[in-house]
Amino acid sequence: MTALDAFLAELERLRSDAAAALDSAVPTGVASADAVEAARVEFLGARSGRLKAIQKLLGGVPAADKPAAGRHFNETKAAVAALLAAAQARVAAAATPAAPPLDVTLPGTPVPRGHLHPLTQTIRRVQEIMGRLGFESVDGPEVEDQWHNFEALAIPAEHPARDPLDNFYLAVARGSDPLLLRSQTSTVQIRVMEGRKPPLRIVSLGRVYRPDTADATHYPMFHQVEGLLIEPGTTMAHLKSVLRLFASSFLGGDVHVRFRPSFFPFTEPSVEVDMEWGGRWVEMGGAGMVDPAVLAAVGYDPAEVSGFAFGLGVERIAARRYGVADIRDFFRNDVRFLSQF
Ligand code: DAH
Repeated sequence: MTALDAFLAELERLRSDAAAALDSAVPTGVASADAVEAARVEFLGARSGRLKAIQKLLGGVPAADKPAAGRHFNETKAAVAALLAAAQARVAAAATPAAPPLDVTLPGTPVPRGHLHPLTQTIRRVQEIMGRLGFESVDGPEVEDQWHNFEALAIPAEHPARDPLDNFYLAVARGSDPLLLRSQTSTVQIRVMEGRKPPLRIVSLGRVYRPDTADATHYPMFHQVEGLLIEPGTTMAHLKSVLRLFASSFLGGDVHVRFRPSFFPFTEPSVEVDMEWGGRWVEMGGAGMVDPAVLAAVGYDPAEVSGFAFGLGVERIAARRYGVADIRDFFRNDVRFLSQF
């Protein structure tokens, strides 16, 4: 027998012994983990493993046979390492406890439920309360022309409210009559009156835009409630009753409403509307009797019809109701804030 043949026979014996030892390492917990570890030390141990011993025999193989001997040595080493890895994997798998049977009676993982934004809740609540008072909810466009945002509301071209610095005019080609993001929901009064005959009771809630710097009480986009009632014999007393009924329903309790003389181009007389809250008067918006010039602009006969209008800030009344000090919180989209409502 040549030195090479003897060397190869040793390798073969090692391989079959390793296969016998590792394949028989039945995966039944700690005992077999120990058996696999013992096999690793016996066959592949770095200091006194059998493979190491065979490696030493390589010195006795003639130089011409060394490449073939080396190749077989490496093959055997890889084969035994693979057997070991497979046995270790079986032991690890056996050590992992089987998944417990599914208990369908356990409570499920709760899915967090969302809800409406506090401003949307406010808008719906206002619509609901005003609906009970007979006011139909209508919408108008947020991109408006000068007629509906200003002209028909008796706000002439030279009026400071039309200043380019106080409005978001849109840079689209409309000649001398550019469009703008509406600065007030009073636009909807005009649109409704243009299309319908009195009597009318409408509310319109939606976004308005003004280039204000955001602070605790201002935001470049906010919401208004617009109310309009056109009926024979309407007086300021009706206006105040409606606002008081609204305030009491919305804020809860018997909320007092105070009128202070004011001026709006589209109402005559005009008032600021304050509501009492925690012993303090808080300004909620404006109101008044619809100006005859506005009635005429929409084709009504001011000698025959009259009515009142009001405009309130949605963020303001929501902030009152929920005790929010900074209206920017409504727009930060912070779920920790929003989930409170
Ligand atoms: N449009 C006014 C504003 O934005 C609010 C307002 C005042 C609306 C008086 C009205 C009203 O309908 O009668 O400041």
